[in-house]
Amino acid sequence: MSEFIAIDGPAGSGKSSVSKAIARQRGYGLLDTGAAYRALAWYVLEQGADTDDVDAVLAAASDFDLRLGLDPDDRTVAVGDTDITTTIRESRVSGAVSGVARVPAVREQVNIFFRSLVANAAYPAVVVEGRDITTVVAPDAPVRILLTASPEVRAARRAGELTSENAADVAEALHKRDASDSAVVDFLNAADGVEVVDTTHLDFPQTIDAVLAVIDRKQ
Ligand code: C5P
Repeated sequence: MSEFIAIDGPAGSGKSSVSKAIARQRGYGLLDTGAAYRALAWYVLEQGADTDDVDAVLAAASDFDLRLGLDPDDRTVAVGDTDITTTIRESRVSGAVSGVARVPAVREQVNIFFRSLVANAAYPAVVVEGRDITTVVAPDAPVRILLTASPEVRAARRAGELTSENAADVAEALHKRDASDSAVVDFLNAADGVEVVDTTHLDFPQTIDAVLAVIDRKQ
């Protein structure tokens, strides 16, 4: 049974790259829960269904053969035999994912999947990153961290990752997704007992140090 290291935060907070670096450095597993929601959104789109159609999303979620590993050096995401590792980062998927993630019954199903992945993991701990890990998926985890950054810094970071889209479009898409996501889970304010690491003025190595300091204090 692995221990959860729960890290929540909005897009562009540095959550994914920080979680990966920490997992590699410490020999932990890594679970990107956003990738599961993205894969489901991709699957619904692939079937030509509407991501706002709750019944279609639920039906997709129940026959969905998601392959999502915990190795921080192998971030492959597949559904059945189809590798969708890069496809799930496309803006059409980013634009559809909140609709899928909004369905409570889907979230329950996905959370059971996450908990069983961690329970059966061959790692001493798994860094689990998402939006509701500190509050819903693993509220009793020994380490619970909320990574934040100002909206301007988050948009600039995301724009730097994407070459084909301009900064204003990225900022707008990010803002829309945050607004839609935060109607479902509050990932902008820390729940009781959750440590906030604000990365607005921190570079990558400083962020890693700040997160490791929390882990070492709490674990
Ligand atoms: O982290 P990432 O930006 O890849 O997450 C994609 C989407 O998945 C989020 O915008 C959100 O709608 C959903 N999500 C969620 N709960 C999580 C992780 C992601 O609702 N724990």
